[in-house]
Amino acid sequence: MRADEVLVAHHDVLRGLLRELAGTTDAQTGQRRRLRAEFLRELEVHAQIEDELFYPAVADVSPLLSVAHAEHRQIDDQLATVMRTAPDDPEFATEVRMLEATLHHHTVEEEQRMFPQSHALGEERLQELGRRLQERQRELTRSGAMRLIVRLKRTVLRLV
Ligand SMILES: [Fe+2]
Ligand SMILES: [Fe+2]
Repeated sequence: MRADEVLVAHHDVLRGLLRELAGTTDAQTGQRRRLRAEFLRELEVHAQIEDELFYPAVADVSPLLSVAHAEHRQIDDQLATVMRTAPDDPEFATEVRMLEATLHHHTVEEEQRMFPQSHALGEERLQELGRRLQERQRELTRSGAMRLIVRLKRTVLRLV
């Protein structure tokens, strides 16, 4: 798969998790906790492979990197709010919908603007980059270090 195809597939996972989370009720606290933790884990992996591999690779062909970095921070901030909100809090659904809107905007902008710009790298480099993204994605998903970072981050976000 080409790099942009790998990232679009992962966007679908992220958007799907938030859609599912947005569809829960205040009474489904266990489900909300599970989906929220799963989203946090997938988002960490996604941001990591973009920051570490994809964004540096497209730096010369896309002027959108600083916007993208700012949007990652905004998504992090909004996720922090969702992490601090109790799953049975009436505000929970509103916070999730706001996070969903920001994630939607960011992923659509990548898909409609940045990824087409990345095609300037050529098919061969995009395929090679796609392989590296998938490899790193698998590695991070499996890795105990990543799970530790996520756990720490979750703790820190709760304390902010
Ligand atoms: Fe991104
Ligand atoms: Fe992305």
